[in-house]
Amino acid sequence: MTNVVSHSPVLLREAVDAVVTDPSGVYVDGTFGRGGHSKEILARLNPTGRLIAIDRDPDAADAAKMQSDPRLTFVKTRMSDLGRVLDAMNLEQVDGMLFDLGVSSPQLGTPARGFSFQRDGPLDMRMDPTTGISVADWLSNVDEASLREVIRDYGEERFAKQIAAKIVAARCIKPIVSTAELSSVVAKAVRTRERRQHAATRTFQALRIFINQELEEVALMLPVAAKRIRPGGRLVVISFHSLEDRIVKRFIQGQALAQVPRNLPLRAREMPRPSFRMRGRGVRPRQDEVDNNPRARSALMRVAERCVDSPGDGIVVNHGVE
Ligand SMILES: C[S@@+](CC[C@H](N)C(=O)[O-])C[C@H]1O[C@@H](n2cnc3c(N)ncnc32)[C@H](O)[C@@H]1O
Repeated sequence: MTNVVSHSPVLLREAVDAVVTDPSGVYVDGTFGRGGHSKEILARLNPTGRLIAIDRDPDAADAAKMQSDPRLTFVKTRMSDLGRVLDAMNLEQVDGMLFDLGVSSPQLGTPARGFSFQRDGPLDMRMDPTTGISVADWLSNVDEASLREVIRDYGEERFAKQIAAKIVAARCIKPIVSTAELSSVVAKAVRTRERRQHAATRTFQALRIFINQELEEVALMLPVAAKRIRPGGRLVVISFHSLEDRIVKRFIQGQALAQVPRNLPLRAREMPRPSFRMRGRGVRPRQDEVDNNPRARSALMRVAERCVDSPGDGIVVNHGVE
């Protein structure tokens, strides 16, 4: 499956500046996409540096095959498989990891992938169409209450009840198999919408997140990533909606708190140390980036650094996170 839609990496310089701390280091790009961030990471590494890239999308795997850089190793898998990927390479820890979450422009812009309400295509939405079930298949069987919950919880959609009812009514007449069909059913149920937002935006987002288990994937990946970054190394995550960012922010904040045992008298130097510190607040793209790449408008990047476990290491926890 090939396509010609390109992808502009979001927060490119900011993310790569944050993640690469040693030009001879080993790094992970957990969401290769079309390799925009990977290319920039490789540009910062010297000949002994190494980059392990992961993506679950077969089109991303095809794009990675076009790269001839011997320092790059691509693995087509889920990000939650990170631990096994590193084990297979005998890598206990790496120097930094980057995750640029969500969907790529080629996924959204290729009608055959079925992500878009703007271009008609088969209603699929799987990042890896070789596993799991398509949205069309799921919609053909799901009960109305479960459908309502998915649309409400993952789309933060206030018309979830009405949309679920319309979908269930429509599928009794004819199965919903294309993105245009779903979009028109949803439009009939949504009475008002924020300016410049399509009636189906939130429903499509919800179904995409659900069918790809996107939030579960992030929640499974984070503790593995945290364990496998060396002291001083960085974890960089770019999210595109508040549900994702909440998971990332809470995880980092949890890691930034020392787990102090209750009722144990401890001297200051015996106090357990936090394992990560948040580096600054969440970073948003500058206006000129958003002007050139509207997909960047909802991006939010968080950076955490693994604490160096030595006495006297200054622990700076920034509690002013957005
Ligand atoms: C925003 S794009 C990344 C773009 C990339 N940084 C670039 O510059 O080209 C997100 C990518 O992550 C992949 N992805 C999302 N969730 C994933 C998961 N759980 N496991 C593996 N890949 C995932 C998608 O297939 C998509 O290609």
